[in-house]
Amino acid sequence: MEKTQFIENIAESTIVDSIFLVKRADLRSKHGEQFAHLTLADKTGLIEAKIYGGNAAEAPRVIKIGRVYKIIGRGKANQNGELYISSDSPETLKELLAGPVVLSPGQENDFVYTPAELGKNAAEIQKIVSSIKNTDLKIFVACCLDTRFYECPAAIRRHHEYTGGLCEHTLETVKIALSLMENVARTNGINRDMVIAGSVLHDIGKIFCFDKEGYGFTPNDTYNLIEHITMGIMYIDEYKSLISEDQLLQLRHIIQSHHGSYGDVIPLTAEAWLVHEADSGSSLLRSIVDDLAETPRGQKKKGLRSEKFLWHAV
Ligand SMILES: [Fe+2]
Ligand SMILES: [Fe+2]
Repeated sequence: MEKTQFIENIAESTIVDSIFLVKRADLRSKHGEQFAHLTLADKTGLIEAKIYGGNAAEAPRVIKIGRVYKIIGRGKANQNGELYISSDSPETLKELLAGPVVLSPGQENDFVYTPAELGKNAAEIQKIVSSIKNTDLKIFVACCLDTRFYECPAAIRRHHEYTGGLCEHTLETVKIALSLMENVARTNGINRDMVIAGSVLHDIGKIFCFDKEGYGFTPNDTYNLIEHITMGIMYIDEYKSLISEDQLLQLRHIIQSHHGSYGDVIPLTAEAWLVHEADSGSSLLRSIVDDLAETPRGQKKKGLRSEKFLWHAV
């Protein structure tokens, strides 16, 4: 089945009849009516869909996440101006319950949504890692970065929630941290090597939190039950023989405390505070910019990612 319609071309009242990747499928209810709430994707973006009908409650149970399904419906906007697809077509439910569409070879490229420049970001981060002066630490960081790091998203929804998102977010974090150091006076006592290593590895545990399913990534049981900080600290232990105990302790502290005042452990070192601030800068600005891209000019709307009210300047 050819894909002839893309998410970027769906507006309010657009008749939707195309195939989309299903990233999430939940059962929800409003005013006593149950419906399937889906997050759909293609190479041009993401959109929510609400599927109503007699056996809509069955759909989230049987849909295979990361696979492609045919959806028929209409573009709608809710009271916050957020666009979604509404469908009460029996054919959509029939398609969802029947199983995913089989794609022809190469067609999966129509469904992989990522604005990140995967090759460029990977090369840039490797260059920064290679600038670590302490050889042991440099080798240690290089060992921790495997193929999962370059492919994985950084989140399901809040920021950098696409293929290659973790690498893009990590690159932004390390660049912000280094530029803060360069631009704030009298910071030469800060350990630049540790700032790079800590920034690059702060979210490394996320590589265990998402599984590649079909053509996309989905959060797994590790995401739900353990989360990335604990996984990151456990993971770096695999290579601990490469560095000193003091370096390991500092890195564990940076990973453990990188959520700042919101975390269980508050940063205690300048390097840990720097990584926390840089991490927040990258994630917050990304979520705000991506939310504003979906906000009409001259309007105020609560962003799905940032969960903040934002006004898109005219
Ligand atoms: Fe994190
Ligand atoms: Fe992060």
